[in-house]
Parts: sequence; C-alpha cells; structure tokens
Amino acid sequence: MTTSTDVDAREVLAERLIDGLTGAMETLGVYLGVELGLYRALADLGEATEAEVAGQAGIDPRYAREWLEQQAVAGYLACDDAALPAAGRRYRLPQGHAEVLVDGDSPYHAAPLALALAGIAGALPQLVQAYRGGGGVPYAAYGRALRDGIAAANRPMFLHELATAWLPAVPDLDRRLRSAPPPRVLDLGCGLGASSVALARAYPRATVLGVDLDEASVAQARAVAAGSGVADRVSFVVGDAALLPREATFDLVTVFEALHDMGDPVAALRTARDRLAAGGSVLVADERVADAFTAPGDATERLMYGWSILHCLPATLAEDPVEATGTVLRAPTLARWAAEAGFAGFEVLAIDNPFWRFYRLRG
Ligand SMILES: C[S@@+](CC[C@H](N)C(=O)[O-])C[C@H]1O[C@@H](n2cnc3c(N)ncnc32)[C@H](O)[C@@H]1O
Repeated sequence: MTTSTDVDAREVLAERLIDGLTGAMETLGVYLGVELGLYRALADLGEATEAEVAGQAGIDPRYAREWLEQQAVAGYLACDDAALPAAGRRYRLPQGHAEVLVDGDSPYHAAPLALALAGIAGALPQLVQAYRGGGGVPYAAYGRALRDGIAAANRPMFLHELATAWLPAVPDLDRRLRSAPPPRVLDLGCGLGASSVALARAYPRATVLGVDLDEASVAQARAVAAGSGVADRVSFVVGDAALLPREATFDLVTVFEALHDMGDPVAALRTARDRLAAGGSVLVADERVADAFTAPGDATERLMYGWSILHCLPATLAEDPVEATGTVLRAPTLARWAAEAGFAGFEVLAIDNPFWRFYRLRG
C-alpha cells in the first residue's frame, strides 16, 4: 500500500533530481562559455548583441543566440531589453559576475569548476567500465579540462592566502623561509604549479621543487613557471611522491589537496619525512570534511563524495594503490598515517578556509 509519506518522499526526491539536472546543465553551459571565450567576449565588449558576441568569439550565430538566451534565463547574464526581437537584444555581465566567470585572479573565480565537471563527464564511459571491472581511471584520462579546472579553481587561494594567511600562521616556518641559508621547499602533487610559483614569489630566498605524477600537469607547470618571473628558482619533475630519489633535504614539504589522491600516502609522508632538513616541517592541506562519517551529510560532505565517486577514487585506483582513500580524507586518518610514517608531531592548524583543513607534521 502506498502511504502519503511515500508519495511525499517520491515527490521530494524527483524534484531534487530535476533541480540537480538543471544545475548540472547550467554548469555545463558555463563550461561552453569558458571554453569558447563567450564570457571573455562579453567582458571585452561590455554590452553586446548575439551577432557581436558570435563575431568576437568566432562561434556560429545561431548557437550564440541560444546560449545567450539560456544564460540570461539562468541569471548568469543580464538582458535589459528582453522584449525586443532576438537579434536586437543586448546582453551583459551583471555586476560582480565577471569576477566569478572571467577574472582568474579573483577569490570568487568559480567558473573553472565547470571545466572540472566537463572533464568528469568525458570520463563517464571509462568510469562505468572501472566500476564493473574494479580498475581505475587514470588522472590523465580526465583530460585538460579537469587539469585546468582544478588548477584554476585553486590558484586564487595560492595567490591571496598562501603568503598572507597560511604560512604566517606557522611563525617559525615563515621565519625560516625568509632567512639564510636559502630555504628549500618540496611541493608534492603540485599539479600545474601555482602553489610552487606562489611559494617562490612569497619567499625570494627560496627554491622550490614541484613533483607530480601526471606528465601533462608537469609540462603545463613548467610553462606557467617560465613566465612567472621566478623561473630561476622553481623547477618541476614528473614522479611518484612515494618514490622520490634521496637527493636533497627540504625545510618545508607541502602537499596541497593531493595526499588523498596518492596511492601510497603513508609512503609519500615517509618520503617527505626522510627528506626534511633539521627543524623542517610538512604542511598538508586537504579537504575540510568531518572527523567521522555521518549520513545524510552536510554540503561539504556531499560535494567531496561527489568528487570521490567520479574522480579521486578512480584516479587513485589507477595508481595500483596500497590504500585508495577517495576525496574524503578525515583528520583521524591523516593522524594515523602521520604516526605510521614516523612523525612525532601532528597538529591541526587554526587556519580559516572554507574548503581545506591544514595540518603540520613534524620530525
Ligand atoms: C587535486 S590535484 C591538486 C593539484 C595541486 N596541488 C593544486 O592544488 O592545484 C591532485 C594532484 O595530485 C597528483 N598526484 C596523484 N597521485 C600522485 C602521486 N602518487 N605522486 C605525485 N603526485 C600525485 C595528481 O596528478 C594531481 O596533479
């Protein structure tokens, strides 16, 4: 027998799925806007008709019309003369939206997340196969969109917070990075290198070595560093953080949103510990999730599990892992890893960030 409660639950869930579909399609519309340079065209033109946007971005006019109408209906763009025939309407970026959509330096620059979603969408056939067969989906299989999306979404935090909030919260570390002899920093899982470049810029005496398993990321990181003004102090190598050669010691080892992706996180931490200079520290930033699983979860848990089922867990499983964690790396797990890797000190740092929690690991 169907009760009224069942009907309500059906309605609620069905509506939630429809809302989710709308949100997902609107996010993929943002992907088109970023990838095709449509927001950039509007930012450059100010206010523009569909023909002007199509001409500026070099896209087909019929598609320009539909995309602009969709964006205005969604509220991402403004159209002040909606009552005019389509060809005469002018569209613009409302106040504040340019920062979110086109300003790569803004702390509000969320548009790259649409690139990441597109990268995930492209990998769905491989994900289905992996779920059946138990294998992984390599990081590289998610393509440039995911790589660029993650890097561009994280970059503003490195630009605005790393040198002004994160490292100053650890005064002795900040002091060491400013002093002689020249400090050496190892940035594990550096992706496209924005953190490595930000570290070198913040600390003019420092040299920074970025390491990442993904060849395409390292190639892009090298190109980013070449134009950064600190190319003489930043270098990158392709490698597994768990298997680094014992060539040098470092005053600081950083791991920004990458430890949970590594197939042997304890070995990666052990490697980092082995390479610490006297008095050195490891700084880990990872997802700001709760200390224990609860269901249903809050918005952060939902977001992180979304990443986990679609990207982080499959990418780690492709590393033939010792431990496949997924995105949801909880503080007690990291504390256990730190102890297993031989660290005597494990500290959760009082750094305010909506997405990441910061940990300091010592000798
Ligand atoms: C979420 S991305 C973060 C990248 C960068 N730290 C940032 O904040 O933009 C995770 C990175 O970890 C890298 N990675 C995964 N497993 C690794 C391993 N075993 N050794 C080194 N890097 C690894 C991936 O290639 C990817 O670039």
